[in-house]
Amino acid sequence: MKIGLCSDHAGVEYKAKLISYLLGKGYEVVNFGTDSTESCDYPDFAHPLATAVEKGECDLGIAICGTGNGMAITLNHHKGIRAGLAWNTAIGELVKEHNNANVLVLPARFISYRMAVSIVRTWLNTEFAGGRHQRRIDKITAC
Ligand code: RB5
Repeated sequence: MKIGLCSDHAGVEYKAKLISYLLGKGYEVVNFGTDSTESCDYPDFAHPLATAVEKGECDLGIAICGTGNGMAITLNHHKGIRAGLAWNTAIGELVKEHNNANVLVLPARFISYRMAVSIVRTWLNTEFAGGRHQRRIDKITAC
């Protein structure tokens, strides 16, 4: 399983720690930046991650900014992306089980790193439920 990660300056610290965590768990990881705490623009990192997931170059993605909203809004401009923001483990579970999010978005300024890891672990270990949720997902791109 290959996971792409991106962040802006607000999420760079969590991203670095999550990369170490994921490598330790045996996942392949692709880092789309940023790797600096200098102020930067989240779309510059969200678009390359989204494209890689859409092309199948990464199986899943994790995106981190201050609130998570900038990343989520940008990622969801891509037709093949279902980016879901999660701030606790229950949401992390449901965003996979119900929404089949292929990119998990985390709000670094509003959750602890311990919570971030817990959300990532839950999201990765949860299966999409399908059924009525697949029907709803099909309707997202039907417009
Ligand atoms: C950066 O200050 C902040 O705006 C960004 O990380 C994010 O929260 C945007 O949605």
